[in-house]
Amino acid sequence: MMASMEKRSLGRGRVSVPVVGLGTWQRLEAAAASGQDRELLDTAIATGIRLIDTSPMYGDAERLLADGLGANRDQVVIADKIWTPSAERGEAQLARAVDWYGGRVDLMQIHNLVAWSAHLPMLEAARDRGLVGLIGATHYSAAAFGDLAELMATGRLDTIQVPYNPVEREVERAILPLASELGLGVLLMRPLGEGQLVRRPPGPAELAPLHPFGITTWGQALIKWGLSDPRVHVSLAATAHPGRLAENAAAGSPPWFGPEERAYVLRLAAMH
Ligand SMILES: NC(=O)c1ccc[n+]([C@@H]2O[C@H](COP(=O)([O-])OP(=O)(O)OC[C@H]3O[C@@H](n4cnc5c(N)ncnc54)[C@H](OP(=O)(O)O)[C@@H]3O)[C@@H](O)[C@H]2O)c1
Repeated sequence: MMASMEKRSLGRGRVSVPVVGLGTWQRLEAAAASGQDRELLDTAIATGIRLIDTSPMYGDAERLLADGLGANRDQVVIADKIWTPSAERGEAQLARAVDWYGGRVDLMQIHNLVAWSAHLPMLEAARDRGLVGLIGATHYSAAAFGDLAELMATGRLDTIQVPYNPVEREVERAILPLASELGLGVLLMRPLGEGQLVRRPPGPAELAPLHPFGITTWGQALIKWGLSDPRVHVSLAATAHPGRLAENAAAGSPPWFGPEERAYVLRLAAMH
């Protein structure tokens, strides 16, 4: 599975990355609480995961990520965020992240569009100095997609990060078409609906029609559902359990679902 995970390009072809990444919201701290944070990161890399998303909003996650990666830092694309209403604190968050990640953050995102007009020029200047690779913006709420679309249309972003799963499909209306038109990289948050969608999974008989697509678990079906839209580049499934990484990464290989299988997954999600 390591060799066969598909790679897609972010930032108009500048960064090529395997399609299953790793989210760290609450889960990296949970792994640390059970002494498994380094194992989680080592296993992620061994499994072929090459993009890890974090944020100052996620408690100690940024530091745990930096410490846990250690000498493996250059093997992964770090997708970090600026999350503060203050321009000064934004600069401090960038400086801290640059320090943690060996002099450079590969993708720096404006978390939930907070104070984006203050942070964006600062990030553009940092990119000119080589401290930041790509620049992105995130939002978790469909209510903010109008604002996100306006920012996307300025041409100043390389990537966006938005929720997309069978019960959160608002991005289909305007955000994914615009991202595709502009050539923006798209990172998916909440592929498993923060875990809610995997609480009562369909049984083996219901999953059987998806076996030809390499699917053996409901978590994989959900991850593959999002990645089967070619306008999407990376799915950020989060877990605290090293043992789940291979399962999740296996959903990042072709064959991809067609319209029929995507509709089938939607029906299963609605039933469970
Ligand atoms: N505004 C923003 O910028 C924003 C907002 C939300 C999320 N994000 C990013 O997107 C990432 C992903 O979103 P998310 O963490 O909210 O939710 P998610 O990835 O949809 O779901 C994570 C949950 O699913 C469980 N899980 C993972 N793999 C599983 C599997 N194979 N089978 C069963 N359960 C599984 C995890 O529990 P276990 O740990 O027990 O496996 C965890 O509780 C975040 O970590 C964060 O990096 C960004």
